[in-house]
Amino acid sequence: MRLLVTGGAGFIGSSFARLALGAGHAVTVLDALTYCGNLANLDAARDHAGYRFVKGDIGDKALWPALLSDAALGAPFEALVNFAAESHVDRSILDATPFVLTNVAGTQVILDAVRAYGERNAGRAPRFLQVSTDEVYGSADDGKPFTESTPLKPNSPYAASKAGADMLVAAYHHTFGLDTVITRCSNNYGPHQFPEKLIPLFTTNLFEGKLVPVYGDGKQVRDWIHCDDHSRGVLAALERGASGAVYNLGGSNPAENLAITKLLLKLTGRDESFIAHVKDRPGHDRKYLIDHGKATRELGWSPRVKFEDGLAETVRWYREHEGWWRAIKSGEYLKYYERQYGDRGGSGT
Ligand code: NAD
Ligand code: DAU
Repeated sequence: MRLLVTGGAGFIGSSFARLALGAGHAVTVLDALTYCGNLANLDAARDHAGYRFVKGDIGDKALWPALLSDAALGAPFEALVNFAAESHVDRSILDATPFVLTNVAGTQVILDAVRAYGERNAGRAPRFLQVSTDEVYGSADDGKPFTESTPLKPNSPYAASKAGADMLVAAYHHTFGLDTVITRCSNNYGPHQFPEKLIPLFTTNLFEGKLVPVYGDGKQVRDWIHCDDHSRGVLAALERGASGAVYNLGGSNPAENLAITKLLLKLTGRDESFIAHVKDRPGHDRKYLIDHGKATRELGWSPRVKFEDGLAETVRWYREHEGWWRAIKSGEYLKYYERQYGDRGGSGT
């Protein structure tokens, strides 16, 4: 397939681009290179003949007509996979504006561009896959895993913006007949994850000899999945998913944040004196549990990476790529860190 991958310079988008190129697909990445977009994440893609990078914002209406009919491609895109997003819950609590602009309005701009392309080309529009999240379901406080029919009940501005995008995707499928698929995955970990998220933040803080800021009692539960397993699920949904369908993807590996923290202490050779319990995240979802049975049954997908192996390999990657994260943990990042953790009742530094 000829694929257009938006947000492909981020953590999971770059994993997907590598996977798709390795599987013989041609991949054009469109990315605005925001604070978390990083061309170094695509180093391994650069040598593939089918790889191309275009810098641009998904919300820029003007770029779409030319991009979708790009003569340089020789043939049109068969599918568009949208990873582009503002992705960090804490940042959405500090300022929701970029979340609404990129995650909601940006998705709508792509949907309109795909629709217009289909109208100009006798209905031959690319398939559109929206990469969504389990956070749209809210918190699984009753202990029941989310299924695709669990009602949407997003709690953070980030989750609300992703739910808004999902609703638009469903509406464009229903109203205009666009060929769409939505995937909703649980918490990812792996190489190239921006060190604002739990696992890379704690790993790199521990390397630096800094404390790790655990929110509240640390008993919140997340279901961890390796980013390459997520990417394989997205590719399976793209290749075999039913039009208009939603597929949950998850790692079948729920764990409390404190348990993850203790594993990271062990892997980095630190002790529990490095834990700082800090003020909780406002509106913090207590528990995410996801049922990915539909993806297993209909797509033949299930996660492959054993968590203990994947986590150890991830910590090793951060140890061996100090230049990658040290370049990020400077400048603007330090201002964010101070704003996020400075007044939380624990230094985290
Ligand atoms: P990320 O923050 O690492 O990467 C996002 C990428 O999108 C970056 O390269 C950034 O430059 C790009 N981007 C942002 N705004 C853009 C815009 N307006 N136009 C073009 N590019 C833009 O995010 P991630 O963790 O890789 O997440 C990717 C997607 O997967 C997101 O849609 C996210 O909601 C979803 N998701 C993430 C997780 C997770 O655990 N990280 C789990 C489930 C779903
Ligand atoms: O569930 C999927 C979602 O997972 C994705 O849609 C999001 O893009 C992704 O960021 C992630 O959201 P979370 O909020 O669950 O991830 P984060 O790594 O920020 O936090 C994981 C848990 O760790 C959460 O309960 C909050 C807690 N935490 C996080 C940070 C950054 C801490 O205790 N301390 C911290 O400093």
